[in-house]
Amino acid sequence: MILPPAPTSTTPVAVDAHTKILGIETSCDETAAAVVVGGSVVRSSVVSSQVDIHARFGGVVPEIASRAHVDLLTPVIAEALVESGLDGPDLDAVAATYGPGLVGSLLVGVSTAKALALVWDVPFVAVNHLEAHLYAALLEDPSLELPLVVLLVSGGHTMLVAMEHHGRYRLLGSTLDDAAGEAFDKVARYLGLGYPGGPAIDRIAMEGDPDAIAFPRAMQNDGLDFSFSGLKTAVINHVRKHPEASTADVAASFQEAVVDVLVTKARRAARQIGAKGLVLGGGVAANSQLRERFLSACVEDGVHGFLPSRDMCTDNAAMVASAAWYRLGADGPSGLDCGADPNLRLPLLTD
Ligand code: KG4
Ligand code: ZN
Repeated sequence: MILPPAPTSTTPVAVDAHTKILGIETSCDETAAAVVVGGSVVRSSVVSSQVDIHARFGGVVPEIASRAHVDLLTPVIAEALVESGLDGPDLDAVAATYGPGLVGSLLVGVSTAKALALVWDVPFVAVNHLEAHLYAALLEDPSLELPLVVLLVSGGHTMLVAMEHHGRYRLLGSTLDDAAGEAFDKVARYLGLGYPGGPAIDRIAMEGDPDAIAFPRAMQNDGLDFSFSGLKTAVINHVRKHPEASTADVAASFQEAVVDVLVTKARRAARQIGAKGLVLGGGVAANSQLRERFLSACVEDGVHGFLPSRDMCTDNAAMVASAAWYRLGADGPSGLDCGADPNLRLPLLTD
């Protein structure tokens, strides 16, 4: 049985501006390690992408991904330590993503983190990958105040989350079908733009006309949930009917439709809860058009908007170490009986 018990919380550990945490991220196809001090000072952040390994298959192959993590993780950790100027025993904790993600890949990071924590005699902290994405913005802009609305847009998730306090999240809306990143990847594959699709569409869209085709904006005027599968189908139908259509125009118009909906709903969410800040997180937050439109919307609405750097939006271990700092201070270390949970969800407030 692969599925382990959830990590057990024990007694909170006092954390401060000097607490040094090694974070490890292996949930999908990036092998990453980082050292973060005090939850927000990044001493090193190393990411080794497996994109080239998976590109010829048109997507991530789970078995290959876990084997690559086994090969890459030790050198990546070694590099993160050297760059940070710290040795293992100088650290105060070791953290790793334990879900959601590919189970074999997650297990590589979790087992390595537990082994290092044992050897260095420091606490191990199991981190939820989605929670780590929520912390990416706070890590780079600690002046952000709560409550904060985070538009989390990645390959597997699209959600609007109200961060009311550290560790206390309320789900305001989420996708009813495809995640935004999934829509980018599927449309890119259909258009023959390769993998990963998001960056490919981002690039080619710069040469196209975003108003060339009026693709549907599902549920735009209605609530805070999303739906992207109809848009994907609309793109496919359009290209079948108009094979002569310029790929750049199709990509730009598709991207415009996604961005329109994401920005409209993020603004609505921030207004609805009276948020003090509005931030982006997740791989799709690296999208140029989304970043531009998001920032102008924040300026227009007079809300403190913040865009994490592109490197912080896509999978990395600095966000894992940052989330671990808050978790360690709130809940204490995780048990060494913790394993990987591929379907882990964000812990949400329900009252
Ligand atoms: O957060 P992430 O790195 O991994 C997950 O946790 O899923 O997100 C990956 C997703 C992929 O779907 C990828 O196509 C998308 O983020 N992505 C982008 C861009 N860069 C990455 N989507 C649109 N524009 C981009 N520039
Ligand atoms: Zn991610």
